[in-house]
Amino acid sequence: MTLRPAEVFRVAFQNPVLLAAGTCGFGRELSGVVDLEALGGMVTKSITMAPRAGNPAPRVAEFDAGMVNSIGLANPGMERARDDKLPWLADHLRRARVLVSVAGHTVEEYVELVRGMEAADGFAAFEINLSCPNDQRLGGRAFSLDRDALTAVIGRCRAETSRPLIAKLAPNDPDLVDTARAAVDAGADGLTLINTLPGRLLDPGDGHPRIGAGQGGMSGPALRPVGVHAVNAVAGAVDVPLIGVGGILNADHALEYLHAGASLVQVGTASFAAPRAAERIARDLARRRDLPAPWGASGRGGPSHASPGANPAAVPSTEPV
Ligand SMILES: Cc1cc2nc3c(=O)[nH]c(=O)nc-3n(C[C@H](O)[C@H](O)[C@H](O)COP(=O)(O)O)c2cc1C
Repeated sequence: MTLRPAEVFRVAFQNPVLLAAGTCGFGRELSGVVDLEALGGMVTKSITMAPRAGNPAPRVAEFDAGMVNSIGLANPGMERARDDKLPWLADHLRRARVLVSVAGHTVEEYVELVRGMEAADGFAAFEINLSCPNDQRLGGRAFSLDRDALTAVIGRCRAETSRPLIAKLAPNDPDLVDTARAAVDAGADGLTLINTLPGRLLDPGDGHPRIGAGQGGMSGPALRPVGVHAVNAVAGAVDVPLIGVGGILNADHALEYLHAGASLVQVGTASFAAPRAAERIARDLARRRDLPAPWGASGRGGPSHASPGANPAAVPSTEPV
């Protein structure tokens, strides 16, 4: 069984399942293990202007309902990502779509990143990771939680690219629906919901944090109801496609997000235990009947803005997944 390809924010996807930012590197790292071409696509590790070594080890710790990570945005920096990492993706991926994730600590850094990447080949859209602290604001609040900073980032990046801009929002936002509207009004073509929730795990013996940075971001199964709720709440308020992410382990979990109003889903933490989890989810979804729009005929529960086959010329041929 194969799915009918669908267009989402002007990009043709062969199925709705992507690998989430930060959990698949730049693709090549997984290529011997995961058939990336069987996926809807992947999101790169978030890149910053300068290379970053990341936070002290240990960077991840598991608990009974997920894990907490504080990688500290370890990445090779914009120039190496563009010149060494993207060419491999451009050469090797034909059917899977690549989103490049960018992360800044000032508005200007996001703008420079989008400007610097725009001329490169090998990717279809930008995902703007707005969970980073803003060094230019008192207290360093995350961009996603600071309406003026968020609209400045989206608005200024919008002017730098003709590619779709997808804003990835943080879940610990009491005004998430208003934030989503603000991101769309500023020029976002889609939203990814959600990034990790702040979390801390302590050693019960000595009380020391179980990850080097002390606190981090919580991901995995415990995040799923939060993510599904976010998608459901935002779907009725904006008219752009949504990508649902958080705690997806299997096709049923992906379907929860699709029914809540997501057009695409991303798989992150599940890949650490089962590197081919996303492939399996894509294959299992293709066997299901009556998927929500834009993947099924029924349109049940799905948004109407992503019409399957709206631009047949842009739709790639699909192989069985
Ligand atoms: C180890 C790790 C690294 C991550 N790095 C990034 C990143 O670089 N950029 C980003 O936007 N999100 C990052 N995330 C968040 C994921 O993309 C995703 O939003 C989150 O983990 C929830 O999905 P999951 O429960 O399926 O993992 C990271 C998550 C993990 C577990």
